[in-house]
Amino acid sequence: MISQKLETAINEQINKELFSEYYYLSMASYFNSVGLDGFENFFLVQAEEERFHAMKMYRFVNERGGRVILSQIDTPKTEFASSLEVFQLAYEHEQFVTKLINDLMDLAIPENDHAAKSFLNWFVDEQVEEEDSMESIVSKLKLIDGQGNGLLMLNKELAARTFTPATE
Ligand code: FEO
Repeated sequence: MISQKLETAINEQINKELFSEYYYLSMASYFNSVGLDGFENFFLVQAEEERFHAMKMYRFVNERGGRVILSQIDTPKTEFASSLEVFQLAYEHEQFVTKLINDLMDLAIPENDHAAKSFLNWFVDEQVEEEDSMESIVSKLKLIDGQGNGLLMLNKELAARTFTPATE
């Protein structure tokens, strides 16, 4: 059985993961509007990943005898100045999510909730990839420096991304 404290905290994180889905969907929509369909695809896949994260938490709370309580999802930012700004914001957002996951782990450790610690470890590892994926594209966009050819090449690369749910 999960503690009330951890149940409430994971419920809050489910909201944050669903907000992340919403945020990345908004970024995808921005890229659609500027004709960069590969960048759009990258964020559509990212939005699916966030949904997957939320559902993984949904199942865990239920399996541990808790109850998922959904709450209002904030409105995401809708206008962006450039591709670089979008990825910088996405990178900052992933760093924020890493902090939230670490905070959850900081609750599970003193409770000696080994199941929760094992569960959260997956997210700790996942966040390393999430940050790295955004940071590497920020670096590429800085190198491209707004040049059309470079943007189109990266657009093609990002068009190939597909959603592959991680094994649980
Ligand atoms: Fe659910 Fe991108 O972290």
